[in-house]
Amino acid sequence: MSEFLRLQKMLSEVRERTDFVPDAALVLGSGLGDFADDLKASAIIDYKDLTGFPVSTAPYHKGRFVFAEVDGIKTVIMQGRVHYYEGYKMSDTVLPVRLMRLLGAKILLLTNAAGGINFDYKPGDFMLIEDHILNVPSPLIGANVSEMGVRFPDMSNVYDSALRGVVRETAKSIGQPLREGVYIQMQGPQYESKAEIRMARAMGADAVGMSTASEAVAAAHCGFRTVGISCISNLACGVGNAPLSQEEVEETAKKVSREFKKLVTASIKSIGENILNSET
Ligand code: HPA
Repeated sequence: MSEFLRLQKMLSEVRERTDFVPDAALVLGSGLGDFADDLKASAIIDYKDLTGFPVSTAPYHKGRFVFAEVDGIKTVIMQGRVHYYEGYKMSDTVLPVRLMRLLGAKILLLTNAAGGINFDYKPGDFMLIEDHILNVPSPLIGANVSEMGVRFPDMSNVYDSALRGVVRETAKSIGQPLREGVYIQMQGPQYESKAEIRMARAMGADAVGMSTASEAVAAAHCGFRTVGISCISNLACGVGNAPLSQEEVEETAKKVSREFKKLVTASIKSIGENILNSET
C-alpha cells in the first residue's frame, strides 16, 4: 500500500470517530504530556485504535490524539510521539504529523525536552527553536509522497519566522524568559557522549534531543507552518557533572509544566489572532 493510501485509510478511521477539523496541531514532549489533561476534549483517539499507526513504546508517553479547543483555537494534540530509536522507519515516525495535516491543521507547534549544550542554559529554561541540525536519516527518504509535497522541499524557513515572532512576543508579554537557539536531533536512545556534545556545540547546536527536527522536516514538506519550543530538562553530557537519566528529564519538565502550559496556551491564542485569522 502506498504511504498516501495508508494515510487516507487512517484519516477515514479518524473521521469515523470525529468530524473535528483542527486549525492547529500540538505535539507534547517528554514530561509535558499532562498539558491536555485539563482541557475539555471533543474527542480522544488512542493511537492503537488506528490501523497500522506506529504506537509509542517510550516511557511517560501516553499515545493518543486529543481534540480540543485551546483558548478558542481548534487544536489536535499528540500526547506522546513516536521516536526513531523505538525501531520504526523514519517515515513512520512522521506519519502522525502528516495525518494531522490531512485532518486540516495548518500550524504545527512542536515541543520537547532537550539537553542544554549552550553553557548559558539552565535546566528549566525554555528555548524557541530557531533552526535545527538533522543528525538522523531524513524522514523523506524513499518514494516521494507527492500528494503531500515536493521531492526537494526548502528548509530555509523550517521554523516559521512569523510564528517565532509571535511566540517571542507572547513570552515577553507574560514575563516568561525565552532562549532562542539551534536544536540538534540525535538518534538515541543512549544519551550523547561528552565528545558528541562537543561536536554538536562546534556544529552550532544549543540543545539536543531525539525528536522534533525530523517532524519539522516532514511538516515543511507537507505545507505546515511550524514553530518549536524546547524545555531544557538537563545539562547535556559533560556540561554538568551529573550522569543523565530519564528521571531527571521528567522531573524538570514536570517542575516547569505550569509555566510551559501558560506559554503554549498563550502562544496558540496569539497565533490564532495574528496568523490564522489573517490567512485567507
Ligand atoms: N540528550 C538527548 N535527548 C534528550 C536530552 C539529552 O541530554 N535531554 C532530554 N532529551
